[in-house]
Order: sequence, then structure tokens, then C-alpha cells
Amino acid sequence: MEISFVAWGPSGPGTAVFGMAEGAGLTGAAAAADQAAGGALKRAIGVTRFTGKEGKIVELLAPANVKASRMLVIGLGKAEKFDAAAAERIAAAIMARLLNSGETELTFAIEAPKRAKVSDAELAAHLAFGATLRSYRFDRYMTKTKDEDKPSLKSIRVATRSAVAAKKEWAKLVPVCEGIFLARDLVNEPANVLYPDEFARRAKALGKLGVKVEVLGIKEMKKLGMNALLGVGQGSAHESRLVVLSYNGARNKKTPPLAFVGKGVCFDSGGLSLKQPVPMMGMKGDMGGAAAVVGLMHALATRKARVNVVGVAGLVENMPDGNAQRPNDIVKSMSGQTIEVLNTDAEGRLVLADAIWYAHSRFKPKFVVNLATLTGAIMIALGTEHAGMFTNSEELAKRLTRAGMEEGEPVWRMPLGEAYDKAIKSKIADMKNIGGPYGGSITAAQFLQRFVNGVPWAHLDIAGVAWQDGEHKPLAPSWGTGWGVRVLNRLVADHYEK
Ligand code: BES
Ligand code: MN
Ligand code: ZN
Repeated sequence: MEISFVAWGPSGPGTAVFGMAEGAGLTGAAAAADQAAGGALKRAIGVTRFTGKEGKIVELLAPANVKASRMLVIGLGKAEKFDAAAAERIAAAIMARLLNSGETELTFAIEAPKRAKVSDAELAAHLAFGATLRSYRFDRYMTKTKDEDKPSLKSIRVATRSAVAAKKEWAKLVPVCEGIFLARDLVNEPANVLYPDEFARRAKALGKLGVKVEVLGIKEMKKLGMNALLGVGQGSAHESRLVVLSYNGARNKKTPPLAFVGKGVCFDSGGLSLKQPVPMMGMKGDMGGAAAVVGLMHALATRKARVNVVGVAGLVENMPDGNAQRPNDIVKSMSGQTIEVLNTDAEGRLVLADAIWYAHSRFKPKFVVNLATLTGAIMIALGTEHAGMFTNSEELAKRLTRAGMEEGEPVWRMPLGEAYDKAIKSKIADMKNIGGPYGGSITAAQFLQRFVNGVPWAHLDIAGVAWQDGEHKPLAPSWGTGWGVRVLNRLVADHYEK
């Protein structure tokens, strides 16, 4: 999609999109356009039930006496509530309407309503952001799409009084779009295409952004003692990998980095504790944590963030063959702690145990944040709106909560505590990999905490938000959402860039 920011003027060719706040009537650019069209917009509003509710649309086709092929008025909702996030949703709604409509170009001629919580430049940039995020498609396997069903829209102009500032704002968001698209691609890709080594190959492309990319194979991981991770992958025909990305953008290259660690189970069959057919569907997305880490690193490096950061992705395929890990096996993790594996489907924590230990022992980071589609239980607790957050740091809790709210990727803090930790005591090893029947997300987090070694840490359980089976989120039109890139990019931008 080609995006440009232009000065206000009479509508050109293509679709002109105007805004109307709830109950406010047509004002400013919309009123002027209505006049140019001989009052047709007002009449159209009069014969519908349009009141300006957020996202509702009134559409005029081929109106007389104007250049525009279509004129749209979209509801902005309550004026005093209108903010950057609302601008994104509105632009997304317009994309949903026009992307495949036959229209090739559109102009957003939307002014911020009085009392709105957004500047002119922000409004323009976030219209572009919402439209771009909504324009994503994963259609590389659709070989029979008819021409008339393919996207027609090619270019978007955003009219604004602050084109220079808007462009500057937009320049910071383009890399975030790219990072999200990369994460979505990785999640959407099926596991016969995207297995650990192929994931690693795609991560290597970040090399051209100035990211150092190391890929550890089985031999290297064995040497490091990463038997918890390796045990998960040993029943697969595809070899496990550890991808290590480092990007040093801070002025002082010696500042301790931030560390982001992702669960990268390219397919989770459950292993010998095999999943049932229905819960197994979707398990190509069990690398959503690793995808978010790679997407984030892509975004940070592209926008040349002034921060030192490492990304670690633990990549395995959890499969049941003759060499597969068995329930009752005991593995020794890189930390030296031993784990009794009682359920091979609780594999994400085994992968992360070694990936987290590797990240802090090698890099001595300021903090570790890990992302993982870790438990079905988090969806029972929080549904698909919030990710679960578990942390030993009040500061990270505050910052992640704030960043998540601002970016539309909210997180909800869950508890940790000794009493929960007891649930993973084992009679034969240092711990077991499952707890009791209740609080499954919490006992999983307790397990991870045993590999954190006191470092400031947050675990985001993204099982409910990394992909979507029912109704799609307004800004995420594909199955894979790319969840995590936005909130973490914001966390970095607001607190750790110097
Ligand atoms: N990848 C799954 C968690 C998951 C479930 C993600 C549903 C998304 C949707 C994880 O590896 C898993 O299988 N967890 C088990 C843990 C249990 C065996 C203790 C679960 O949640 O059932
Ligand atoms: Mn599993
Ligand atoms: Zn899993």
C-alpha cells in the first residue's frame, strides 16, 4: 500500500472519506464536501439511521458534480473519546469496506473533532497505521482467486494540516507494521513449511538490518546442556534450533541489553501425550512467542532504536516417534536442575527453561521478558482480550500494563507465590513439568520462574491472543495476529532508549 500525507484540498479522484462525531452533524471538510455535492451527503444521512456511532458508514457512489468516485462518511464515535486508537479502528473499518471493492485510491479527509484526545499529526499517522495493519493478507496458498476478488486498493492519501509532523510520526510506525507482518507470516505459515530450521533461515534475514544472527544446532545445545529443550524436539524428523539475535543500537554498546525470549514450538502435537484432533488444530501457531520476538527485533532494528537488545527463540517440533520423550523421563536442564517430564504436552516450559537460562547467563540483561502460547488455561481465565502477565518486578508490571493499554495489546497481571510453587514438586527430581488440576497457567509460570535466577522477569502467556479462530480483531485480519510486537516496541520506546 502506498501511503502519502497531503494538504487539504477539494476531493480528487478515488474515494473521499469524511468523519462525523456522534451527534455532531457534518462539520468542516465534510460539510464543505456536502455542499459541493449539492447536499447529497446530508440527504443520505437523513435516510439512514447514521448518527456518527464509531465505525458506522454512509456511502455515496459516483456522486454528481464532484471528482470523487465515492464519498464516505464514517462515524467517529464520541468526540471526547476520539483518540489515536479510535483513528486506527476507523481506518481499519474503511479498509475492510474498500480493499477489494474495485476502488484503487482513497483519501482520508478526517478532522479531529473538537475536544478529541489526538493531535493532527497523530491522527494522520494513526489513520495510516490502522489502514496498513488491516490491509495485511496471507494469501500465498490461494491459487484460484479470481481477479475481481483480489485487493484493488493501491494508494492512500491522508489529508492533514501537519504533513511534516505526520510523516515523522508515520516513519516510526512503518517498522512496527513490518515487524507485525513478519510475526503474522510466521504464525500463519503451516508447520510443513515452517519447521525450526526454516524459522531460523527467516530470522537470518534480519542480518541485513544490522542484527547479529546466531543459530545453534543440536550439537551446540548438547554441549551447553540444554537437555530440557532438546528432549522436546527429539521425537521430530526436524532438528531443533536456538536462534539468538543481538542488536546494539544504544550509544554505549556496553550497556546491558534487554532480553526477549520466545517459545517457538513450530508444531505441538502433544508428543506421546498426544492431543485430540480438535485441540491439535492450530498448533502450527505454537511458535507465536518466537514470532513476536523476531518481529520485535525487526521493528527495533529497522527504526534504529537506541537500545541494546537480544532476542532468543527456542525452536522445536513436538512430535511422537520412536525416539520421542516419554512421560516419566527425567531431563537435566542447562541450569543443572532436573525435571521429571510427566506430560509431554507441557513442552513449552521445557523449551523456555533452557532458552531463558541461556539468555540471562550469557547476556546478563537488565531484564528478561518471555512470550509463549503456554497454556490453554490462560484462555479459560482471561479469554482472548488480555494476555496473562506473570512477573517478579513491580516496575515491569507497571510498564507492561501501561504499554499494553496504549497499544491495544492489554495484559492482565496474574499471581505468583510459594503456595503455587509447591504444586510442581516432584518425588524423584527437582521438579515436575505439570501441576495439579487448577491454576494451570500459574503453575506453568512458577515452573519458568525457577529458571530466572532472580533476574527481573516477566512472562506473557499469549495462548489466547496469538491467533484467532472466531471473529477477527479490527486491526488483525488474519489468523495470526502478530501480538506482542506493538506492546514490546512501546515498552522499549518509552523506557529504555537513550
Ligand atoms: N501449546 C499448548 C497451549 C495452548 C493450548 C496454546 C491451546 C493455545 C491454545 C501447550 O503446550 C499445552 O499443551 N499446554 C497444556 C499443558 C498441560 C498439559 C499441563 C494445556 O494447556 O493443556
Ligand atoms: Mn503442548
Ligand atoms: Zn505448546
